[in-house]
Amino acid sequence: MTIREILKMGDARLLRLAQPVTEFDTDELHLLISDLFDTMQAASGAGLAAPQIGIDLQVVVFGTNEINPRYPDAPLVPRTVLLNPVITPLSPDQQSDWEGCLSVPGLRGMVPRFSHVRYTGFDQYGDPVERTVEGFHARVVQHECDHLIGKLYPMRIRDFTQFGYTEVLFPELDAPADD
Ligand code: NI
Repeated sequence: MTIREILKMGDARLLRLAQPVTEFDTDELHLLISDLFDTMQAASGAGLAAPQIGIDLQVVVFGTNEINPRYPDAPLVPRTVLLNPVITPLSPDQQSDWEGCLSVPGLRGMVPRFSHVRYTGFDQYGDPVERTVEGFHARVVQHECDHLIGKLYPMRIRDFTQFGYTEVLFPELDAPADD
C-alpha cells in the first residue's frame, strides 16, 4: 500500500495534456492503479487522476463500494478504472452542484456539468469500458477526466459568488480541513 503525494493547484504538472496508455496489463500499470486507489481512499476522495500524483498518463480511478464521508448524501458510484477515456454528452442539459478536489484542498465551488453522458475507454487489462450515466456519476467522471486535459474545477466555475472555503460554506459538515 503506497499513499502518494497529491499535487496541488499551482503545480504545472496539473496543467498538462496527459498521454494515452499504450501498454495494458503491465506490472507498472497495476502498481499505478493500486497507488491511485490507496491515495484516493486515504484522502477520502471521490476519484483521483494520474496527473494528480505527477504521472502523465490518461488514467483515472473513481467510485467506491462504500459511502464516502466527504459526500455522505451522494449516490454510490461503482469502483471504476478508466484509461484513455472519451466522454460524450448525450444532451446539452447541464446541472450545477458543489465540487471539491484533492488538488484544491479546503475549498468547494459550484460547477456546471453535463447531466447525461456516455463514457468509453479501457480498463487496466485493455478491455473496453462503456457506460451511460447521469447525475453524480456523470459529474465525477467529467471532473476526473478534466484532470487529463489540464483542467481543475475552478476553471469551470461561472459564478464565483459560489466558491469558498468548505468550513465556511458547510459549517455543519464534519469534513477534514484539507479536503
Ligand atoms: Ni479533482
